[in-house]
Amino acid sequence: MHSDVQRILYSEQELSAITDRIAEKINEDYQGRQLVVVGILKGSVVFLADLFRKLTVDCTLDFMAASSYGNSAVSSGEVKITKDISTDIRNKDVLIVEDILDTGNTLSYIKKYLGSFSPSSVKICTLFDKPCRRLKPITPDYYGAAIEDLFIVGYGLDYAERYRNLPYVGVLKPETYNLTV
Ligand code: IMP
Ligand code: MG
Repeated sequence: MHSDVQRILYSEQELSAITDRIAEKINEDYQGRQLVVVGILKGSVVFLADLFRKLTVDCTLDFMAASSYGNSAVSSGEVKITKDISTDIRNKDVLIVEDILDTGNTLSYIKKYLGSFSPSSVKICTLFDKPCRRLKPITPDYYGAAIEDLFIVGYGLDYAERYRNLPYVGVLKPETYNLTV
């Protein structure tokens, strides 16, 4: 275990089982359809790389990146798209893949934005859901696990851009937050 990590919440094996379960459901739901998977950079990439290889439906892959306006301490709730998709999603089934659904600001903006291109459907798949922090009325169509109000890292999720490479998901030692930034 990384020396900055206090405890592991989800092991590699548990994450693999979660990804299996989500992929199975997506494969069932989109059978015979053409799916455009849209990963949200950067947090989703590790989960998405595993999930994508478990999809058996006909699908393509694209990416978007978004950031919140203003400073992060006082989130304005406004979202800026910093990388857009290059796929024509008109009349296509779109599945947004995200690492974690927190306040919902990012995904509600992105969902509305993608919806403006007249896709057949837009659904949300997130590895983690923190429903207690929600500010926007949005729920995931697929999620791996609901978590309490905890800041987690690993398996793509970062703290100040670090720890994305951890193969498990964990909580950092409190002193780590004082050392970085
Ligand atoms: P939202 O717009 O508040 O839902 O923010 C979602 C984004 O915040 C996610 O894509 C993550 O990048 C980040 N985030 C929220 N909670 C955590 C966490 O516990 N660990 C790491 N990143 C998080
Ligand atoms: Mg992030």
